[in-house]
Amino acid sequence: MQHKNITFIGAGHMATALIRGLIAAHYPAQCITVHDKHLEKAQTLANELNLHYAPNLSSAVKNANIIVLAVKPDAIAALCAGLKDCLSHQPLLISVAAGVPLANIARFLENNSLAMIRSMPNTPALIGSGATGLYANAKTDHAAREWAESLFRSVGIVHWCAQEADLDAITALSGSGPAYIFLVMEAMQEAAVTLGLENALAKTFAIQTVLGAARMALETAHPITELRVQITSPGGTTEKALAILEQGHLKSLFAEAMQGACAHAKKLSTQHSNP
Ligand SMILES: NC(=O)c1ccc[n+]([C@@H]2O[C@H](COP(=O)([O-])OP(=O)(O)OC[C@H]3O[C@@H](n4cnc5c(N)ncnc54)[C@H](OP(=O)(O)O)[C@@H]3O)[C@@H](O)[C@H]2O)c1
Repeated sequence: MQHKNITFIGAGHMATALIRGLIAAHYPAQCITVHDKHLEKAQTLANELNLHYAPNLSSAVKNANIIVLAVKPDAIAALCAGLKDCLSHQPLLISVAAGVPLANIARFLENNSLAMIRSMPNTPALIGSGATGLYANAKTDHAAREWAESLFRSVGIVHWCAQEADLDAITALSGSGPAYIFLVMEAMQEAAVTLGLENALAKTFAIQTVLGAARMALETAHPITELRVQITSPGGTTEKALAILEQGHLKSLFAEAMQGACAHAKKLSTQHSNP
């Protein structure tokens, strides 16, 4: 990855995950600056990872080739109000704020000339196993796209969306997805306890089962359906359990849940349209 000066605004969970990913990918810490309105938060992170720390917004972005907006969606408008007079050097902006369209960020900045990328990472990025959807505006050139892709690849896998609205579907799949799997693990753990196993054992085995199944699905070229069919012997215990899940319309429930999440993501993106 080409070494550009990159500034993270907001020193929270997502910024920390991305910065750790960059450092693990041997990105030089001296090219990274961090700023947060809670100064001690940015300072602590900077000290721990040998980053630059900027006490105010203008000094944070002055020499930045790339600025990552890593604040909560409802803080984006206020941040842009503070940023708009500090961008004459035309940095690339990368937003990680869920549900905030690039057009809104351009409007908050009163600036339509900037290259901007919107991202939808997910929480497993915190441990380097994320899945990030990306969308770039028309001002973003190939080099900037490649750079952003490398940033998010340092914490997982990446997909470029052809249209910004696809990020709503990505939100419903991988953004909210870890919580669906946590629910499945909770349900398996609780059911195993009801069957007489100890809680700690039920938890460990539920987690290991999800991990093992995910790794098998990752490591084979076969469709997921085929993996399921392979381990479902006719007349066996797995077939019995799956039949009960089908009676409960598990697939339709997932379809309904993800349609709900996608529709809600679209609605939220209209809510973040006013400063
Ligand atoms: N965490 C995730 O797994 C995840 C997944 C996908 C997307 N995202 C996106 O990532 C973004 C950041 O999430 P997060 O969980 O990292 O948030 P976070 O832990 O709350 O960190 C954001 C930090 O930025 C500070 N901040 C707010 N406005 C600021 C400003 N104008 N200037 C400087 N600092 C400011 C916040 O202070 P206050 O707390 O006082 O506001 C907070 O310390 C969100 O937009 C979220 O949608 C996160």
